[in-house]
Amino acid sequence: MKGLINRNAVVTGAASGIGAAIAKRFCDEGVNVLAIDRNAVSWADSYENVRSVQLDLTNGSTPGLVLENINSFLKGSCDILVNAAGVSAMAPFEETNAEVWDTTLAINFEAVTVLTRTLLPLLKKSDQARVIMIGSICSEFAPAGMSAYVVSKHAVLGLTRALASEFGGDGITVNCIQPGAIVTGITAAGFEGNSPFREHWENKAAIGRLGQPDDVAPLAAFLVSEEGRFISGHGIYVDGGAMQQG
Ligand SMILES: NC(=O)c1ccc[n+]([C@@H]2O[C@H](COP(=O)([O-])OP(=O)(O)OC[C@H]3O[C@@H](n4cnc5c(N)ncnc54)[C@H](O)[C@@H]3O)[C@@H](O)[C@H]2O)c1
Repeated sequence: MKGLINRNAVVTGAASGIGAAIAKRFCDEGVNVLAIDRNAVSWADSYENVRSVQLDLTNGSTPGLVLENINSFLKGSCDILVNAAGVSAMAPFEETNAEVWDTTLAINFEAVTVLTRTLLPLLKKSDQARVIMIGSICSEFAPAGMSAYVVSKHAVLGLTRALASEFGGDGITVNCIQPGAIVTGITAAGFEGNSPFREHWENKAAIGRLGQPDDVAPLAAFLVSEEGRFISGHGIYVDGGAMQQG
């Protein structure tokens, strides 16, 4: 991809699944990556252009610690922010207590707004600034039994559109990748064996299979490259055609 060597990126959720695949792809493209996760980023030893930092994004001290690491590892600059950290919450609305609701919104949405707001001054200084949110097909689709997750992911798409409008004049593009059913840490157990969940999503995808994190990472690499410069304010499905099926 053009224009990625020596760009500086912050990627959250980098220990696992989609965030890990994106962060590794960025490293392969020559991007310097600050890889953030509450869990250890075990793959980080394989690259020289990554620093992993173990942080809980819902903790109030995290934004300051991210800035400290940007200063020491990325020479104070940030061109790319990928907000991939997230949790799923599968429970009927009436059984979703305040704690589950708040926890889901805290990581999937509030932490995204806080980190994005923290990094905006640096992004404004970049000549190729990119923000990628990881939304979901649930940013526009609302299956029963996961209201907290659906609300959080609708909010992420709304934020994407609002920030694209507000910061386009600063040269920042903001887009939301909307994965379909991807085999990752939050879904692997549900997809094990021939579970009805697995069959449902395999059949729903026009491509006829579940997605893998490496099916998502190339879109992120394209969006942050020089060639993604005029794409902003959109949610883009990576779902094997699932959302076209009734
Ligand atoms: N897997 C799918 O089918 C699918 C579909 C649509 C959207 N998504 C979204 O993709 C994103 C990545 O999830 P994934 O599927 O790769 O799952 P994953 O569990 O493999 O990765 C999520 C990562 O986020 C980290 N994380 C969670 N809470 C955190 C916190 N408070 N602080 C720091 N790190 C935290 C986890 O430790 C984990 O490494 C999520 O936003 C998820 O909602 C996933």
